[in-house]
Amino acid sequence: MALANTEIDELVSLERGEVDRRIYTDPEIFELEMQRIFARSWLFLCHESQIPEPGDFFQSVMGRDNVLVVRQRDGSIKAMLNTCAHRGNAVCRAEEGNAKNFLCTYHGWSYGIDGRLNGVPGFKTFYDGQLDKSRHGLAQVAQVASYKGFTFGTHDASAPPLEEFLGATGRLGLDQIAARGDMVVVPGIQKFIIDCNWKIAVDNLFDWYHPQVTHASAFQPGVMGTDAPNAAEREKIDLSEVNMDSGAALDLPATGISGTKFDQVVVLGEYGHAIGGPTASSSGSAVFDQTWRTTAQARAALGPVGVEVAGHPNIFPTTWIAVSVQLSLRIPRDPGHTEIWWFTFVDRNLPRETRDFMVTIASRIFGPGGVLEQDDGENWAQATAQTRGIASRRMKHQLTMGLGRGKIIKEGGLSRVEGLTGEHGQLWTYHSWAQWMKGLGWDELKKVTTPGDFI
Ligand code: FES
Ligand SMILES: [Fe+2]
Repeated sequence: MALANTEIDELVSLERGEVDRRIYTDPEIFELEMQRIFARSWLFLCHESQIPEPGDFFQSVMGRDNVLVVRQRDGSIKAMLNTCAHRGNAVCRAEEGNAKNFLCTYHGWSYGIDGRLNGVPGFKTFYDGQLDKSRHGLAQVAQVASYKGFTFGTHDASAPPLEEFLGATGRLGLDQIAARGDMVVVPGIQKFIIDCNWKIAVDNLFDWYHPQVTHASAFQPGVMGTDAPNAAEREKIDLSEVNMDSGAALDLPATGISGTKFDQVVVLGEYGHAIGGPTASSSGSAVFDQTWRTTAQARAALGPVGVEVAGHPNIFPTTWIAVSVQLSLRIPRDPGHTEIWWFTFVDRNLPRETRDFMVTIASRIFGPGGVLEQDDGENWAQATAQTRGIASRRMKHQLTMGLGRGKIIKEGGLSRVEGLTGEHGQLWTYHSWAQWMKGLGWDELKKVTTPGDFI
């Protein structure tokens, strides 16, 4: 399908803050996303702590390609497609583990942990020794690289180096986990499918408008952690009285922009990366303790601006770093289905009880048993379902909160908008999505996804 750039511009309007519902349901657009976003972008594969020893592997996903990320004998990491070079069967069914080789269960071709084809049953008898084994190894992912232990891959050999792709915004996102200590992934990745388009699950991570309504049932029983309202406070909650302006900034002018008093900050980065949510000083009442940001170590690691940015980073397209010290992937399966993965991080040096407590809290919030994600998933599924009707589809999604009033401040290598709750993070994501969908070269793509003066 050739979708003209003018048609793509009509799907997302940064000027009007409108998104065409077709982008959530059209299979041709989904296919184009696979080609122009997921076959080009750097994508998170796993954390190095998951594969410490030679032969350790983790099976990850790039677009719809399953890839095996494998620690090599020399300590390096390779990623290769999990599909046999003979006739396509998967060569590994396990989600993770340690392997001496990968044996295809169809006809028995076997590969080394570096993907080289070693064994072919009947090589002499059936093939007359005529098969050039050096040409039929597992296909290697074009580029693999790590930033502070976070391993990414891209199918595009011409993609810029990982650190350049991440830029200051993407790196700050990963630093928000790395700066907390000697971080390791807790064994066991939570995986489940929500009946929603992947972009609805992504744009929600910047949405600080919904929690008071969507998650009222999660906050009221007090299961969210020590800062959730106590019983006496809960009795006072009346949803009709919920003030949707956020936190301490209720007396701010309605313009939402203030150089001195604000409680939300949205960082906009090249290629579509963004971070959106509360400032560190205003998030004291949040469920997860942000006091670690007051240390000199955090300030040094995150920088004077970054240390104040306590919202949710998304590394475009689908890597979300949550305040619960977790990393989530929103993996598109088809236009109406998204597989969610949750990686939970802890400092390896913490006492066992503290680590267990953090894992318990993390599992209670997100993931299939998490009170928040169950609430969210219902909304995302319904929002996706209502993109399918002919009449419903004529209505555009509205992302107009704060539109045109987001003055972009450039400081410390970051571009940010300060104010009250707004939809600048979502707008930036959709604007960038549209640029990726045009199939631009890397230089041009970077240029048109570099923040200007206003959003
Ligand atoms: S498909 Fe793998 S050996 Fe034939
Ligand atoms: Fe939510």
